[in-house]
Amino acid sequence: MHFLAYATASLLALANSASATFAQVNNNCPVPVWITVTNATQQPSQYAIPIQGTYLQGRSGIGVAFGLSKTSAYFSPQTPKWTLGFTDSPQDNLLYWSVINADGDPFAGQPWRVALSDPSCAPLTAYDGGVVHTCSILANLTVTLC
Ligand SMILES: *[C@@H]1O[C@H](CO)[C@@H](O)[C@H](O)[C@H]1NC(C)=O
Ligand SMILES: *[C@@H]1O[C@H](CO)[C@@H](O)[C@H](O)[C@H]1NC(C)=O
Repeated sequence: MHFLAYATASLLALANSASATFAQVNNNCPVPVWITVTNATQQPSQYAIPIQGTYLQGRSGIGVAFGLSKTSAYFSPQTPKWTLGFTDSPQDNLLYWSVINADGDPFAGQPWRVALSDPSCAPLTAYDGGVVHTCSILANLTVTLC
């Protein structure tokens, strides 16, 4: 798979860099969760994150969205979706991120958490209308579902 090859090469490159940062999704839900990854330059890529599985990718400066849904029909208006947008901004050394949901709530009644590895950046555990949060560009970004 092209993406896996890219991700592997990218992680190897990042492993040599002191400032490697990552964006990760941990699925603790009792069902698989679909992730649809989009960025400014490529067609979306979709993967199923199995129960107790993890999706991990190295972060780059390009605006990225992690769309999460319980079915693969992420772009259908019938599919409740949860979307994390994030971008690394080397100009001010900040990571910008926000969470929205659309067409319902795929995780209704199930907890979720977006946390940063930098303890000075507060985690988010409930929808806030898409408020844009910032943290150090050096912080890892981790989504934990259920
Ligand atoms: C996002 O963008 C880069 C190009 O800058 C590309 O190499 C990468 O594979 C893209 N795809 C995804 C799914 O993030
Ligand atoms: C981010 O994650 C990577 C890989 O797990 C780790 O090596 C690095 O120390 C983490 N950075 C921070 C600031 O926690």
